[in-house]
Amino acid sequence: MRFLVPTLALVHLTVVTGFLLDHTCLIGTTCTCTSTEILCNNQGLDNVPSFKINGRNTSIDLLDMSANNITVLTTNAFTSLGAYVTSSLRIDVSDNKIRVIEDGCFNGLEDMIVTLDLSHNNLQGIPTAVASLSKIRVLKVEFNPIIALDSFVLSRIGNTLENISITLDRFKRWPNELHFLFKLKELTVYNFNSPIIRNSDFHYITQILSLSSIELSHSPLEEFPGTICDMSNLNSLNIANNAFVDRTVEFFSICHAPLNPIRTLSMHSNNFDVLPDIGKIFPNIEHLNFSDNNLRYLNNELTAMSRLISLDLNNNRLAHFPSTLDTLTPSLQVLYLRNNSLIDIDNKALTSLASLQMLFLDMNPLEYIGANAFHTNTALKTLSLSSTRLSTVPCALASITLQNVAYTNTTVDLTNNNIDCDCKMKCLSNLNLQKFEFVGNPECAQPSTAIVDFIQTIIKASVCHT
Ligand SMILES: *[C@@H]1O[C@H](CO)[C@@H](O)[C@H](O)[C@H]1NC(C)=O
Ligand SMILES: *[C@@H]1O[C@H](CO)[C@@H](O)[C@H](O)[C@H]1NC(C)=O
Ligand SMILES: *[C@@H]1O[C@H](CO)[C@@H](O)[C@H](O)[C@H]1NC(C)=O
Ligand SMILES: *[C@@H]1O[C@H](CO)[C@@H](O)[C@H](O)[C@H]1NC(C)=O
Ligand SMILES: *[C@@H]1O[C@H](CO)[C@@H](O)[C@H](O)[C@H]1NC(C)=O
Ligand SMILES: *[C@@H]1O[C@H](CO)[C@@H](O)[C@H](O)[C@H]1NC(C)=O
Repeated sequence: MRFLVPTLALVHLTVVTGFLLDHTCLIGTTCTCTSTEILCNNQGLDNVPSFKINGRNTSIDLLDMSANNITVLTTNAFTSLGAYVTSSLRIDVSDNKIRVIEDGCFNGLEDMIVTLDLSHNNLQGIPTAVASLSKIRVLKVEFNPIIALDSFVLSRIGNTLENISITLDRFKRWPNELHFLFKLKELTVYNFNSPIIRNSDFHYITQILSLSSIELSHSPLEEFPGTICDMSNLNSLNIANNAFVDRTVEFFSICHAPLNPIRTLSMHSNNFDVLPDIGKIFPNIEHLNFSDNNLRYLNNELTAMSRLISLDLNNNRLAHFPSTLDTLTPSLQVLYLRNNSLIDIDNKALTSLASLQMLFLDMNPLEYIGANAFHTNTALKTLSLSSTRLSTVPCALASITLQNVAYTNTTVDLTNNNIDCDCKMKCLSNLNLQKFEFVGNPECAQPSTAIVDFIQTIIKASVCHT
């Protein structure tokens, strides 16, 4: 019997448009499966196959049909899956060319589908078929040419929907239909096509008590929507890539009281040349993303962000290590400073950052790092120094002494530098190489040997003492 199964499958393949999958996944060249997933992504398919699965005793929880060539999802498109789904199902049909979803498309799975990814397709609205999904919690429709939202559909899914992501590039006014989503936890909006969100339009969104995460990015917003300040449960806010006009330290002063729950804030790519007083409005912030702005220095009169864990300042224009971080962010663990204009790191720069674990300084014109620059950073596990102008291995490596982390090494990235290995590296003669991992085993510019080997065979052999 066992040997007959593949033969049978071939017969089926020629007779019906579907194919057989057994739990071992030996059959069915188009899709693969694991015990709970069917993966048909990237196969040039123009429809959903009809599934017949042998010997299966676990419930399918994911059908991935992304990156295919589907234009129409027909009535009963997924019905054949019904036999193999006993609890919840996620369907991913993102990145196709879907312009039509017929009304009966989800027949048989109406109370199984919890996540539906329709992003990157050709839909002009959220299809009526979606209204039949009585348990849907996550709907992704971003990057579709949506021109209108249907109150009927949104009011139906509003009973269960928790997360939605949508592109609103064809909307000049806030679509009030979104207010039907009264159980929303996470709202992600890209490309809203208006410089302003009117308080009166947005008011209902701010009344959704469960809403904890908002992204309003890649829009031409000129003003921070002040009603956001009324959202008492918001813990994550992303306002990246907008066109704010008033880019001052007082940017958030439109909020009259602190928003205590906020933990995560992204202001990526907003053309700010000062850092707003974020600690004053968001006193409990833990993650701040301020990458791709125009900071040249950090103002030292800002309210401390005493719980900040990670700070992304990549792709700014800082010319000096911001010494004010000492008092501004005393709990910092992860600091991104890639691609700024830092030339040197002096011995005092990082003295108060005792919790710092990861420091990314790549792509700076760094020439000099003080010999004791890291002596108080006793938690530093990652130091990234690729693509700088360092001409020697910084003596400061010898100043790193990890505390309470006996079983951890420090990872150092020195790739893509022009390091001349010579007796300037004498300061590293006591470096405990067992405690360092050099990413990519970088080479000296000269002599042509690995930096680690040079330290081992020349520096540690005391050749330089004479
Ligand atoms: C996608 O379908 C179109 C016709 O609708 C066809 O011309 C094209 O070759 C197909 N692409 C792939 C990758 O199968
Ligand atoms: C499912 O089938 C596999 C292989 O036939 C078997 O090893 C496993 O014990 C079965 N699991 C259950 C829950 O029946
Ligand atoms: C839905 O949003 C919430 C709040 O942001 C998040 O914690 C959760 O992981 C999201 N669920 C899914 C399935 O993405
Ligand atoms: C900051 O935001 C940018 C753009 O969204 C993202 O690519 C980057 O990974 C974020 N940084 C961190 C540390 O998450
Ligand atoms: C570095 O930052 C500049 C702006 O300061 C930006 O134009 C450039 O694309 C960034 N380079 C990389 C590799 O991210
Ligand atoms: C630390 O690096 C050494 C080699 O330098 C390696 O033998 C050891 O396994 C590493 N320890 C950890 C915890 O990664």
